[in-house]
Amino acid sequence: MTVPPSARGATPLLSVRNLATHFPVRTGLFGRPKAVVRAVDGVSLDVYPGETLGIVGESGCGKTTLGRSILRLIEPTAGTIEFDGVDFRALRGAALRGMRRHLQIIFQDPFSSLNPRLTVGTTIKEGLLVHRIAEGAAADARVAKLLDEVGMQPAYASRYPHEFSGGQRQRIGIARALAVEPKLIVCDEPVSALDVSVQAQVINLLKDLQKSRGLAYLFIAHDLSVVEHMADRVAVMYLGRVMELASAGDLYREPLMPYTQALPSAVPTPDPERKRMRIVLSGDPPSPANPPSGCVFHPRCHHPARDASCSVIAPPLEEKAAQHWCACFKQPPTVVPWDAQKGAGGTHPPERHLPVQALHQRG
Ligand SMILES: Nc1ncnc2c1ncn2[C@@H]1O[C@H](COP(=O)(O)OP(=O)(O)O)[C@@H](O)[C@H]1O
Ligand code: SF4
Ligand SMILES: [Mg+2]
Repeated sequence: MTVPPSARGATPLLSVRNLATHFPVRTGLFGRPKAVVRAVDGVSLDVYPGETLGIVGESGCGKTTLGRSILRLIEPTAGTIEFDGVDFRALRGAALRGMRRHLQIIFQDPFSSLNPRLTVGTTIKEGLLVHRIAEGAAADARVAKLLDEVGMQPAYASRYPHEFSGGQRQRIGIARALAVEPKLIVCDEPVSALDVSVQAQVINLLKDLQKSRGLAYLFIAHDLSVVEHMADRVAVMYLGRVMELASAGDLYREPLMPYTQALPSAVPTPDPERKRMRIVLSGDPPSPANPPSGCVFHPRCHHPARDASCSVIAPPLEEKAAQHWCACFKQPPTVVPWDAQKGAGGTHPPERHLPVQALHQRG
């Protein structure tokens, strides 16, 4: 489903600007200079009420750190987070705890995310008690209703996590997140640890809950195929940055960022023979402790106009078409003048490059 933000006529529920989360790491023993892992490095995005914003990128590109930084489970290094009109980063103590109710998370690993010593009922009830939403028999009744809502028997409340499969545990995790009636849920690869046969069931449950409760999701995945069925808009991340952001339909139809073009399942086509053809990304992503200069994607880029200027000029995230943002100054139009590119060693003027022409290798 394609719902550009302008069509919503709504103000964003969540507005993130220039968010950065850097981890200092020691490179050697005793006072050696510290390196900095730039896990999230200047991310700006909005999430509108009731929409799903997909976040996609290879493992290690900063998706989990971004999700947790937005919830302040990890304290960001810089940037702003506005949630429901409130400066979320300025909140402390009780005000922060109160606001947390509205921002929940579903974790990637349903095995480590539930406390093995607590019954399912106690786990789900925790938020109800902390936020004084319900207690006693009223809380038990809410737990039963929540279990039913996620497709589990209410009697399971007295059981322990080890008695359940991965899919069932993920349903319990969803019930726990829903208990406090959040407005936004960060779903951090919620199905990637599950059997393929169970993935669709959990995705459908999340979709149904979104519709019935008007929830907004920040839905993290490591490839495009999962968010294809889930997201209204998609942000593609690479080395802690957003490289492309568009409605899901535009991104699948016309991925402009060379990195997006190379992501598995980036190029849907009705021809099954063509479906197996894709650009193969060479090498591993560089370390976020030592990102490449200029365009951080330049060592792996296949764009025909890529040249020396790509390792000098950092491409701004530009609006290439209505609501379609992309960080590549070789994809026209661009605000980076050709003279500036030439001055940085550029030899190839920008040239529109689309995935159909890019399909040169069988994956
Ligand atoms: N606490 C930490 N200390 C140092 N580096 C970290 C920490 N957490 C994550 N990283 C690094 O930050 C980068 C992004 O990690 P992560 O957000 O988990 O990526 P993703 O979820 O996309 O796989 C990785 O290089 C990872 O090794
Ligand atoms: S700016 Fe250059 S290196 Fe970066 S994606 Fe565009 S063509 Fe490739
Ligand atoms: Mg992760």
